[in-house]
Amino acid sequence: MTEQMDIVLMNIGQLLTMDSQGPKKGKAMGELEFIEGAVLGIKDGEIRFVGKQEEKKDLLAAKIIDCERKLVTPGLVDPHTHAVFGGSREHEMALKQQGVPYLDILKQGGGILSTVEATRETSEMELFEKSTFYLDRMLSLGTTTAEIKSGYGLNEDTELKQLRVTKKLQQKHAMDVVSTFLGAHAIPPSHRDKPDEFLQEMVGMFQQVKEEQLADYVDIFTETGVFTVEQSKEYLSKAKEYGFGLKIHADEIDPLGGTEMAAELGAVSADHLVGSTDKGIKKMAQSGTVAVLLPGTTFYLGKHTYARARKMIDEGVIVSLATDFNPGSSPTENLQLIMTIAALQLKMSPEEIWNAVTVNAAHAIGKSEEAGQIMMGRKADVVIWDAPNYKYIPYHYGVNHVNTVIKKGRILYQ
Ligand code: NIG
Ligand code: FE
Repeated sequence: MTEQMDIVLMNIGQLLTMDSQGPKKGKAMGELEFIEGAVLGIKDGEIRFVGKQEEKKDLLAAKIIDCERKLVTPGLVDPHTHAVFGGSREHEMALKQQGVPYLDILKQGGGILSTVEATRETSEMELFEKSTFYLDRMLSLGTTTAEIKSGYGLNEDTELKQLRVTKKLQQKHAMDVVSTFLGAHAIPPSHRDKPDEFLQEMVGMFQQVKEEQLADYVDIFTETGVFTVEQSKEYLSKAKEYGFGLKIHADEIDPLGGTEMAAELGAVSADHLVGSTDKGIKKMAQSGTVAVLLPGTTFYLGKHTYARARKMIDEGVIVSLATDFNPGSSPTENLQLIMTIAALQLKMSPEEIWNAVTVNAAHAIGKSEEAGQIMMGRKADVVIWDAPNYKYIPYHYGVNHVNTVIKKGRILYQ
């Protein structure tokens, strides 16, 4: 019997389905589910057929795409970005070249704080247009689901402005967006000696953020000169009481114990983790907290010590990868580039990398049921790559390998 589809991808060289039971950890991260010589049928925005070419010769469609010698995968998931911000910080490049450390730039009122100033001065409309441009670029690079954090307002008005921009993106942009409230991203100059008072003010926003459904997660930057583990614990515990999921910028620069804290609080993810201790890693494995690793940030900060991905995988942690796209420590929308850095610096295998940017990344933002896998009945978020196999993407670096992006069954880039 013939079946009518909207789009059929035929003769697929290699189709990564990632069709596993939820996220991967330990040895399973080294395993990948794929079909060679596959066919994929899409109808009404959903995947309606996945299988071998010979099983289904009779699919009809208005649009048939020949994917011979091509790789087809689920749309990539980027579980950590700061994609709504004013201005840009190319002037910091000279400081970086002189070796001025990231936290010193911040201490002098630059870094995050200079983006805060710019974001406060940018209108909601302009911010929306600016982030639309970035999300368009992310889509063109193969990312179909992303998380976005606030944190460049550091006062009620601008934090709300940022969160409303993200909400508008959720409503209007083709990208699926998950929102995180990161009001506790830095201490604003107005509260330099009163960090606790500042955190109180951010806690004061929880009710409204919840009521207006402006964010699903609350995040904090636990770092030397920013917020201590004690302050973070208190803040996140309150966020939990309001029903938010928890995320943490943990042990990015100094090993303060953020990893342990994330596991103890049952955070959905702990991110960065360059300085995580053995104990912290073990605790994360036990709690199921996802490690969101951001090797592009380590690279761009000019550091030589990277997060210990191998140790994390060996201990059974669910490891994921993200761009950390932001105007300071990682100005890139390109998750393909992060895959290469993960291969070279984190020593992750291609199989581990693909699991990290699909199923595991989806799990890190509560989207396990929707994104990161190609299965019957799922939303058709699919990327066709100009690559003969999955190992090719992290290997051939610095270019965009995307041939076609299909989002919810709609062809966006071709
Ligand atoms: O994840 N570490 C804190 N926040 C961002 C950087 C933000 C910025 O520099 O603007 C990060 O690296
Ligand atoms: Fe970040």
